[in-house]
Amino acid sequence: MANVKGVTAPEAGHVDLAEGTPAGTTRDFPFGEPADGLRVDPSDSRQQSRGTVAGRPRGILRLGHVDVTCTDLDLATAYYTGVMGMDVTARTEDSVYLKCWDEEDHHSLRLRYAPRMGMDLMSFKVHHEDDLADLENRVSRYGFPVERISKGQTLGQGESIRFSTPSGHVMELVADVEKVGTTRPRHLPDNASDDQPFPRDMIAPPRMDHMLINAEEVGESTQFYMDVLGFRITEQLLDGNGHQLGTWLERSHSPHDLAIVHGPNGGLHHFAFWLDDWDDVRDAADVLAYNGIQLDVGPTRHGITRGSTIYFFDPLGTRNEVFTGGYRPDPDFPTLTWTEDNIGRAVFYYEGELNERFMRVHT
Ligand SMILES: [Fe+2]
Repeated sequence: MANVKGVTAPEAGHVDLAEGTPAGTTRDFPFGEPADGLRVDPSDSRQQSRGTVAGRPRGILRLGHVDVTCTDLDLATAYYTGVMGMDVTARTEDSVYLKCWDEEDHHSLRLRYAPRMGMDLMSFKVHHEDDLADLENRVSRYGFPVERISKGQTLGQGESIRFSTPSGHVMELVADVEKVGTTRPRHLPDNASDDQPFPRDMIAPPRMDHMLINAEEVGESTQFYMDVLGFRITEQLLDGNGHQLGTWLERSHSPHDLAIVHGPNGGLHHFAFWLDDWDDVRDAADVLAYNGIQLDVGPTRHGITRGSTIYFFDPLGTRNEVFTGGYRPDPDFPTLTWTEDNIGRAVFYYEGELNERFMRVHT
């Protein structure tokens, strides 16, 4: 672990010395102390010392990282650093790893060069190593083969499991992710102040929030995520026959960690970055306009989740979202149901209608 207190951190650009790291990997993340000195010791885990009446938390914790392909790695990296304000933590021959400023884990986005845009996998973090065996059994019993990926095969994380979901997406589950920490101030992270690390021409979201994928059979996929992986459904959109056109699922007491809407199997509709409030959404719109980024929809509010949002595209056509607000669903939260005749308000509450691009464009 590179930056536990008292351990000398490698220089930026230093060849990674971690065991099992692929040859040619370099570090970009500076591993320095944050400006305000408020470093969180990554070796300190609140979870491990928690001995509550309810027992320790189990299963899937939250979205870990989204791995996408892109046809121009330099252009994509320039956008995700220069406009989104993410930090590059590592580079290999064909990939760039990035994280948001308030994330401790090694990366929340991997960009890999490929001749076509798309999604390699979605990685969710589980609470504990032994959750992997439990979930591996559950997925196997469902009838899907599970692959074990050993430590060192994937940069920045330990052993993981991978499998295909009913909609043909590759899903990864992992407990052991390297903590690289953050070098930026944490107790007063004010983008707008002088002497702060975020120029106003960057959005600089604190973290990744959720993702939305396509599935031809939304109902079948939703059952898989709920019955096999333990997701809870917060909202659903039904067609006139009562079939699910879209579902919103959570593990982290947020309105959604993962959503599924009707569309081609394997499709990625968008991944979304968290912002702290509506003012940040407005500032993000300013940044997007300043940088000439193509908006898809917004700024506006969703009916579903009640969150505030902007959709836009990275320069290569992958849809991004910035998102804030919404409610905090406990496990006893009743599922909210929308019907297709009200789909406009469900998705874009102010406009009350969907545009064709939002419905049809995916990567
Ligand atoms: Fe979203």
